[in-house]
Amino acid sequence: MNRKRVAVLISGRGSNMAALIDAAKDKTYPAEIVVVISNRPDAGGLMIARANGITTEVVDNTAFGKDRAAFERVLQALLEKHRVDIVCLAGFMRLLTAGFVKQRQHRILNIHPALLPAFKGLNTHKRVLEECVKIHGATVHFVVPELDSGPIILQGAVTVRAGDSEAALAARVLKIEHRIYPLALKLVAEDRVRVENGRCMIDGVAVPDAGQLAPDLP
Ligand code: GRF
Repeated sequence: MNRKRVAVLISGRGSNMAALIDAAKDKTYPAEIVVVISNRPDAGGLMIARANGITTEVVDNTAFGKDRAAFERVLQALLEKHRVDIVCLAGFMRLLTAGFVKQRQHRILNIHPALLPAFKGLNTHKRVLEECVKIHGATVHFVVPELDSGPIILQGAVTVRAGDSEAALAARVLKIEHRIYPLALKLVAEDRVRVENGRCMIDGVAVPDAGQLAPDLP
């Protein structure tokens, strides 16, 4: 089997990255994590990646000031050096330019801690609680130039519980994230996800059973 070569881009603790690394330890998994790239030299995830024997690279964005294109040129060179097929953003806190995204159209995935298209942006759990939303979750989608938009690949849901704190809700959503991200990457790496008119089709179906996970819902 020709496993797809994946770069995981992080900025922080890297728990989603770790979930992808763990999934890829199985030799039958259709993707391998060939490099972890962080824009922050102090990202905790770098240590986890190294402990797992994964090559790490740091491209410190602060060295480039406001010059996004220059930052991305270095990023692009690294992706080429490691012959990367698919990029997974996992808590990567930099916006990518339209030019960069278009070069790798439908080859960059992101995970967002909310059921998109609701609650784009930051502080999703806090806003969900403020709005008394009943069902929350996480989404894996292809990256497009607009923030937290782009064709939805998979979603996982959790119920919001009475008395939930932001931290408790975040922890439950994170568990779901760790399940749907490896699943979504598997489907993409197996070339089972196609984008038609801006929507994902999995095995030719718009809303397949494989596209949703709601373990605590009846
Ligand atoms: C996750 O909640 C992810 O959905 C969001 O940023 C967070 C990253 O956490 N994009 P981690 O670094 O993967 O632990």
